[in-house]
Amino acid sequence: MIVLGIETSCDETSAAVLDEARVLSNVVSSQLVHVQYGGVVPELASRAHLRLVQPVIDQALNEAGVERRHIEGIAVTYGPGLVGALLVGLTFAKGFSLAADIPYIGVNHMEGHIYGNLLTVKDVAFPVLFLIVSGGHTQLVLMKDHLDYRIIGSTRDDAVGEAFDKSAKVMGLGYPGGPVIDKLAREGDPDFVRFPQSFLRDDHYDFSYSGLKTAVLTYVEKHTPEHLEKHKADICASFQKAAIDVLITKTLRAAKAYRVRAIAYAGGVAANGYLRRHLVEKGRAAGYDVYTPEMAYCTDNAAMIAYAGLHRLRGGERSPQNLNAIPSLTLG
Ligand code: KG4
Ligand code: ZN
Repeated sequence: MIVLGIETSCDETSAAVLDEARVLSNVVSSQLVHVQYGGVVPELASRAHLRLVQPVIDQALNEAGVERRHIEGIAVTYGPGLVGALLVGLTFAKGFSLAADIPYIGVNHMEGHIYGNLLTVKDVAFPVLFLIVSGGHTQLVLMKDHLDYRIIGSTRDDAVGEAFDKSAKVMGLGYPGGPVIDKLAREGDPDFVRFPQSFLRDDHYDFSYSGLKTAVLTYVEKHTPEHLEKHKADICASFQKAAIDVLITKTLRAAKAYRVRAIAYAGGVAANGYLRRHLVEKGRAAGYDVYTPEMAYCTDNAAMIAYAGLHRLRGGERSPQNLNAIPSLTLG
């Protein structure tokens, strides 16, 4: 089955063409307009999606060497995300589906992140424990089979990606903060500052990042600009260790409690070098398969949406023309 995927939930306009699990194209246009504001401006995101959605889809078809009439199904994100941004992709998908007389399916963006990981896994060893870490989510999800999700833990306040972005902002490092901190942290001492790790020893699987965010802000306010500049890398490494170690510890604890066969991780923060290195190392040492997503499928992209949609379309699922965008859509 040849599927066109469309993703417009936040600040990436993306389209992809998949032939089953083979990615024929995956075009991602990142909206640079938000950089000057230090975060995504919803109204500007919707307008940029409107401008970009058609050319990005044309480019995806072009790169895939596929004509419109070859597309057999469309998969599009309908939540969670910014409502105006979601509506651009969703409305486009509905129109395409009607005009070409092919089915379309609305996909949960978080399910997309999960399938972005599974895209490169040959035989999935269920049950799998998924750590989903992005700008809007921090969740542990148990999957006993395809498309079957049970949330066993979530953040009670900020998402881990948000903590990276906000901490980078107070340190004056720019937006998005994740990649900048990741890069600087490589040269730094992770034991330079002891930042708090919420719920590390609690016996539930929830997370909290507001304490860490506040601790970084307090640290910045208490130190001179010279000190902060001199120890930029050390502060980043210390922050990153505090933010990521708690994810790894709780993931391993949950993997044991739920007797899973494999651990997987997904979402924008899955691009983090420290997480990739340590979760793989510790997960394998504990006897699990660890599924690491390819970098191209970590941050928002349409290939992951197309692959999740493919599983649903294959099972005969279809979305109605009156499907609405759901900004706070949850998994399961
Ligand atoms: O999944 P995503 O592209 O969008 C959402 O669905 O939220 O994730 C974006 C988040 C941002 O918070 C960004 O700072 C973070 O992922 N991120 C990273 C890295 N690359 C992106 N965080 C840590 N290390 C990275 N290398
Ligand atoms: Zn995302």
